[in-house]
Amino acid sequence: MTVHFIGAGPGAPDLLTLRGRDLIASCPVCLYAGSLVPEAILDHCPEGARIINTAAMDLDAIIAEIRTAHDAGHDVARLHSGDLSVWSAMGEQLRRLRAENIPFDVTPGVPAFAAAAAALGNELTLPGLAQSVVLTRTPGRASSMPAGETLTNFAATGATLAIHLSIQNLSRVVADLSPAYGDDCPVAVVYRASWPDQQIIRATLSTIADAVGEGISRTALILVGPALANEGFDESCLYSTDYDRRYRPQTADSPWASWSHGDD
Ligand SMILES: C[S@@+](CC[C@H](N)C(=O)[O-])C[C@H]1O[C@@H](n2cnc3c(N)ncnc32)[C@H](O)[C@@H]1O
Repeated sequence: MTVHFIGAGPGAPDLLTLRGRDLIASCPVCLYAGSLVPEAILDHCPEGARIINTAAMDLDAIIAEIRTAHDAGHDVARLHSGDLSVWSAMGEQLRRLRAENIPFDVTPGVPAFAAAAAALGNELTLPGLAQSVVLTRTPGRASSMPAGETLTNFAATGATLAIHLSIQNLSRVVADLSPAYGDDCPVAVVYRASWPDQQIIRATLSTIADAVGEGISRTALILVGPALANEGFDESCLYSTDYDRRYRPQTADSPWASWSHGDD
């Protein structure tokens, strides 16, 4: 018996890995985080599967369901939105499973920030503008932030920021970022990336609050940084005509000239 933690992706049911789909199809029990996991993904469950929405359950109740499945020898598909490595509450479940010697594995999913970047048609690491992406959030009612993880600290890097769980704090985000990024810094808010009702709002730090208005209160990402402009960046060396590299040596003297793929 194994508990398969599966990243269910950002919303579109076909943004699920083949491995995730096949594991769901093989499990007689499925626990899913119903607030964000699309119901269409449950169509992959086998006939007669026990399917439980965990949105209203506490950790003890979730672990009790898993323990019952474990005692019966039934595999469990445990679905969370996006990828499991960020804001999935997987960590606390794995700690309990380790303590109870219940086997598990983890299958990654498409994270919301990647779906949002895809919706925007935007690389977030454009040469000369940004080479780092910070996945972060602002404090919420139930979650404080470690002392050093402030938006002002991240802003000092100039990196592309992907700010989760924070659309309700948009004015605070703007106030914290404007001194470092400037009022004209591009911002995109992507609501429910990959869902049928997806919305994209592009603006600047000085105009984004008015552009978003009161209409969006959850399930949105705020992306901030110069890379969001999609212009003014350098071409990468990767495809540069005269860049000497392993896969495209430029001269017979190149250190890469005698390299063959078998060497690596
Ligand atoms: C609890 S976190 C889950 C993150 C998820 N594990 C991931 O890999 O993206 C929920 C937050 O992720 C963001 N989010 C999740 N799905 C989204 C989507 N389809 N479009 C935009 N933002 C999304 C929003 O900021 C939302 O408040």
